[in-house]
Amino acid sequence: MKDCLGTVISNEFLSDRYYLIRLKCDEIASTIKEGQFVLFRCSDGNDPLLRRPFSVYRYFPQSGEIEFAYLLKGRGTELMTRLKQGDKVEILGPLGNYFEIGESTTGIAVLGRGVGIASVAVLAEKAAKENLYSLAILSGRNPGSVIGKDFLTEAGCEVVGLNDEEGTSGIDGIRDILTDRIEKGLIQQIYSCGSNRMGKLVKDLSIKYNLDSYISFEEHMACGIGVCKGCTCMTKDGYKTVCHDGPVFGIGEVDL
Ligand SMILES: Cc1cc2nc3c(=O)[nH]c(=O)nc-3n(C[C@H](O)[C@H](O)[C@H](O)COP(=O)(O)OP(=O)(O)OC[C@H]3O[C@@H](n4cnc5c(N)ncnc54)[C@H](O)[C@@H]3O)c2cc1C
Ligand code: FES
Repeated sequence: MKDCLGTVISNEFLSDRYYLIRLKCDEIASTIKEGQFVLFRCSDGNDPLLRRPFSVYRYFPQSGEIEFAYLLKGRGTELMTRLKQGDKVEILGPLGNYFEIGESTTGIAVLGRGVGIASVAVLAEKAAKENLYSLAILSGRNPGSVIGKDFLTEAGCEVVGLNDEEGTSGIDGIRDILTDRIEKGLIQQIYSCGSNRMGKLVKDLSIKYNLDSYISFEEHMACGIGVCKGCTCMTKDGYKTVCHDGPVFGIGEVDL
């Protein structure tokens, strides 16, 4: 973990309330892993005081570049939208644990809902690039909030985009798709972020089909390094911190 200074390469509106910021930051781009996050200082001053956590959306070790997809939510992200090419940004990272794909795994599914897509998309891309079967089920409030479809399709993932507005994001439909791919032997691991409802589905299917699955949490954070205990979640071994013990937990480990 390092406190680094990144340089903004671009910062663009994506769709709905989502933006994409691309930074040059060799130290983080060369060490971060799928599912890890950074704490981002959104302004030069002390307002807001706390840095904001963002998961790596994509990273490019060779060019030292890293991308974060972020939802315009409150004060911190509003300030982030104002950053422009050449601006310097303090980022602390990489933080937390990360998603791992088992050695015998031949196919995975990722389930992302809303900002949760930003955490799991990078894993789906990695799996497809390693020639594993990679299913990305991406869900949001409306078509514009389902980000990542373009680059995941290009990477070779099977991408299913679902949204509430068009009535396609129901949990039964997601269960049917996953069950079909599991029973065809395509998937041995599922990774989920952004929805407890989807997390519960992953847990049910993982128990039924004996899958090795994981969930990533996005709790409010303050210190981001396991000290303040402001981001705890209940696990079968008691309370754990999302920032330090997570954000990735085995699906059987956590209460959903
Ligand atoms: C591991 C992790 C990864 C994430 N990855 C992404 C991502 O890739 N993309 C994305 O868009 N979002 C992500 N998020 C969520 C993102 O951090 C928040 O949306 C962002 O902090 C909002 O900041 P804001 O100032 O705009 O919003 P605000 O809501 O104004 O501020 C949020 C911050 O205020 C404080 N806060 C507000 N309410 C509470 C409360 N009830 N209890 C305690 N503290 C509170 C916390 O410090 C919190 O971080 C992630 C969160 C986590 C924990
Ligand atoms: S944010 Fe302080 S312990 Fe996690």
